[in-house]
Amino acid sequence: MATSSSRSCLQYLFHLAHDNLEFRLPEIRSLLALRSKSFHPSENFNEQSPFWCLGSLSEEDVRSVMARSVCAKSAFELWGHGRTHSELRTSLLNYPSEKMRPYMHKESTYKINIESFNKSLLLKDKIKKINALDYLPFEGTVCLTNPQHIFCLLEDYGTDCRNIPEHPNHIYFGRWIADGQRELICSFSVKKRHFIGNTSMNAGLSFIMANHAKVKENDLIFDPFVGTGSLLVACSHFGAYVCGTDIDYNIIHGKGLSSRKNQKWRGPDENIRANLRQYGTEKMYVDVMVSDASKPVWRNTALFDAIITDPPYGIRESTRKTGSHKNITKPPNGTYAESHVPVSQVYHLSDILSDLLNFSAHHLLMGGRLVYWLPVYKPEYCEERIPVHPCLRLISNCEQPLSSHTSRRLITMEKIKEPEELDNPAYVSDGLYQGHNTFRKKYFSARNKKSGKEEEQAQMLMENKIS
Ligand SMILES: C[S@@+](CC[C@H](N)C(=O)[O-])C[C@H]1O[C@@H](n2cnc3c(N)ncnc32)[C@H](O)[C@@H]1O
Repeated sequence: MATSSSRSCLQYLFHLAHDNLEFRLPEIRSLLALRSKSFHPSENFNEQSPFWCLGSLSEEDVRSVMARSVCAKSAFELWGHGRTHSELRTSLLNYPSEKMRPYMHKESTYKINIESFNKSLLLKDKIKKINALDYLPFEGTVCLTNPQHIFCLLEDYGTDCRNIPEHPNHIYFGRWIADGQRELICSFSVKKRHFIGNTSMNAGLSFIMANHAKVKENDLIFDPFVGTGSLLVACSHFGAYVCGTDIDYNIIHGKGLSSRKNQKWRGPDENIRANLRQYGTEKMYVDVMVSDASKPVWRNTALFDAIITDPPYGIRESTRKTGSHKNITKPPNGTYAESHVPVSQVYHLSDILSDLLNFSAHHLLMGGRLVYWLPVYKPEYCEERIPVHPCLRLISNCEQPLSSHTSRRLITMEKIKEPEELDNPAYVSDGLYQGHNTFRKKYFSARNKKSGKEEEQAQMLMENKIS
């Protein structure tokens, strides 16, 4: 068997899914950071490529990243690569045989897979490619059903689907280590979810958010705009305790009109707790409560390992907070009658963001992360519009395009210092607000001018119906 020292300084090949491109690097970096590891790409690293070669990792690091990643398809111990099959052959023949031997000896069973990116290969061509690897010292027995070791030849035909080359641009060969968690996208799909709403976050993005937030076992995670709890579902799957608030009584209590086709009212037990129960994580459910995010109810101390949220933009749901412009006096006994309905007023996006960042600065533990979506009107977007806070450092900012004019950005920030009492009200810089407040107006005017198809696509993305 290979010793652990002989297996250090290996290169690992990550095969990434070719969607949500901007979310991939922060996800892998965050998952490595969970193991106190840095991201060390090879010299010709290209973020857009579906193949990344990474160094300075152990096999255990790679396995633990794959146990969490929804952006990665699989990972391999890289044995060789090249721009042509002949370069690959030279590279493989240079790979130290003592590193191959433990996986190729007589008693072992194995199989070889062929994967190609941006080109479908016929079975007969795949078999030819496998046979062409006869220069490798395989001594074991081929077993297609349950092999001890799986090897893979991966061919990269570039990313331009209108201009697919005859021969691959790059070829890799390696020993398979683990698959990522792509299947969570399907097994946690909101289509099969017990309790859903119009704005339930799709499963893939929910898991990506949890990964950007570095959620880990026994963390306490909070979503101040919890809705149907999709983000809590993802975090609880990674072993965290979860809680949330929402201003909407009906959503917290699972009452009112259903968002399902062919169903008028929500049924009994259509609530967030039942969603967690559906996925076997009810024990991680702390609670959810009706509360206005503009008037947090928490004692003033750091409580949460991460705050993960999808704030209301006012496009799919109203942005309201409790309060009135009129002077409403409290009854002399201090308590309102049971029939009292609190008045509400518009909750501007600028205030939502400022409250969210301030709240996070106060209630995140040091090093804890805030992950949230920021709506953007593209023609006016520039990085300076990202809300800032002296206690929060920007970690990543990834775009999900919605239409030619609109997108939303997944913002990840990390708490780096405790807030000082006097700084409190002036945390978020003022210049940002204009853009955010005009977003809704611009979004609707762009929408009215647009052809139905693009608008429909943007709306579906906003409602998380397309990943
Ligand atoms: C985009 S949705 C969140 C969807 C959620 N991530 C899910 O998966 O269902 C925003 C939520 O914010 C809530 N909301 C709006 N204004 C609020 C406020 N002032 N305080 C707390 N929640 C509010 C809405 O009721 C809505 O459920």
